[in-house]
Amino acid sequence: MELRDVLQSNSAVREFSDRAVTDATLHEILDTARFAPSGGNRQPWHVVVIRDEAVRRHLRDLYVLAWREYMAHVNAGLVAFAPTDRGRFAGPAIDLEAARATPSPLPFADHLDQTPVLLAIVADLDQLAVMDNGLDRQSIVGGASVYPFANNILLAACEAGLGGVMTTVLCRQEHEVRPLIGMHDGQALAALLALGYPANPLRRIRRRPVESFTTIDRLDGPPFVP
Ligand SMILES: Cc1cc2nc3c(=O)[nH]c(=O)nc-3n(C[C@H](O)[C@H](O)[C@H](O)COP(=O)(O)O)c2cc1C
Repeated sequence: MELRDVLQSNSAVREFSDRAVTDATLHEILDTARFAPSGGNRQPWHVVVIRDEAVRRHLRDLYVLAWREYMAHVNAGLVAFAPTDRGRFAGPAIDLEAARATPSPLPFADHLDQTPVLLAIVADLDQLAVMDNGLDRQSIVGGASVYPFANNILLAACEAGLGGVMTTVLCRQEHEVRPLIGMHDGQALAALLALGYPANPLRRIRRRPVESFTTIDRLDGPPFVP
């Protein structure tokens, strides 16, 4: 596939066929993805291939709780855990305990343990040059040394005929995930990637046009159009 085709067709895939992903294929995907950029080229990532069935089921149960929290926000018309107080987090906007106890239809979450490939992406925090650290708002820069790598995995998977999705809701349950995959204090769970051969043809991706998010000289400047 051409790079442009990969970029334009790599929709989120949450339903997978029974076709197994070989270790050779997964290795090739990671071998392509590892060329991602990172601050100072420190490559502060680890990938844990989750195979143990008991760990998979445990992660699924934790994911379901976090997904319920997320969906409760969505159902209330809120962006989940958004730093809404001028870029600062004012605390949960809903009753999280009630949310966790409220089931919602979750085919992907309920069957997360059946996903052909589950990859935990873990970041070494002391290797991140967090250039907006300590500013009086939500920090955002640190993740930029890990998420290009995570997205590269999805792009390389797409090129190999697989599909997948980056997920982050499990990060709400990081304290429970830590002992399951052997994380230490100086590490953070950046994402859980689900990969496999898609059960259905990829959907057409819809995104905003360039001129809706690109302006000249200032954020309130005229739209950039060729
Ligand atoms: C940072 C990030 C976090 C995400 N977290 C989740 C998640 O926890 N669960 C999930 O099912 N999808 C998650 N997604 C997938 C998004 O929902 C998906 O990329 C978006 O809806 C666009 O989907 P499309 O490419 O099929 O149009 C996440 C994506 C990103 C980039």
